[in-house]
Amino acid sequence: MANTPPESKNSRLIIAIDGPAGAGKSTVASQLASRLGIPYLDTGAMYRAVGLLAMQDGLEPPFDEGAATRVLELMERHRIEVEAADGGTKIIVDGHDVGEEIRSPECSLMASAVSALADVREALVPLQRELGMRDGGVMEGRDIGTVVFPDAGLKVFLTASVDERARRRLGDLRERDVDTSLEEVREQQQQRDLQDTSRAESPLQVARGSVVVDTTGLTLDQVVERLLEEVARIR
Ligand code: DC
Repeated sequence: MANTPPESKNSRLIIAIDGPAGAGKSTVASQLASRLGIPYLDTGAMYRAVGLLAMQDGLEPPFDEGAATRVLELMERHRIEVEAADGGTKIIVDGHDVGEEIRSPECSLMASAVSALADVREALVPLQRELGMRDGGVMEGRDIGTVVFPDAGLKVFLTASVDERARRRLGDLRERDVDTSLEEVREQQQQRDLQDTSRAESPLQVARGSVVVDTTGLTLDQVVERLLEEVARIR
């Protein structure tokens, strides 16, 4: 369960940030939340934790018919805890902080695969709603503005060119000492984009009423300032 953040006048404001992989959502969302003094919830980390369990259990996409039941069993057997922590969302599986493990390229693809399973979404979305309704905050993912909080105070769709997104993701992975190439990152990202936008359950779409921000060529500060202007408008 998430920690209770300090009370503030913003405490029930929900800002939904959706967009494709590598659009800068996590960095922007975490910075925006800290500027506003409200919690930040990275919902992708929750799907990644489930992906990690599936990987450890030897599941491989594409999934067969029995996979959904197996993934649900894993979710029942293991304990996934979510905590809004300073600068990020802490994900604890069976008492271990899996923050690093869930960031591997393999886990990214697995997270995307498990997130297409209706049962997995049915289990995680209520938890995300509960956390959001209790504390408010900046919530980031693929379906926050379309499904989880369609009435969010502010809905943002962040995007960037395919090349820029691949370059950013490569930078992140290199910082974590993951040995990969721009070409490989671009391919994996395209595979994920395709899976995330074409799935039957809550596909990535621009939510009605979203502010669409193309972050190509923009600095983090420029994007955050732009969003702060949007927040000022709804207050
Ligand atoms: O945001 P991310 O790259 O950490 O997310 C990992 C995967 O989880 C992503 O490929 C799609 C899925 N996801 C989702 O389906 N819905 C969300 N709200 C967040 C993530």
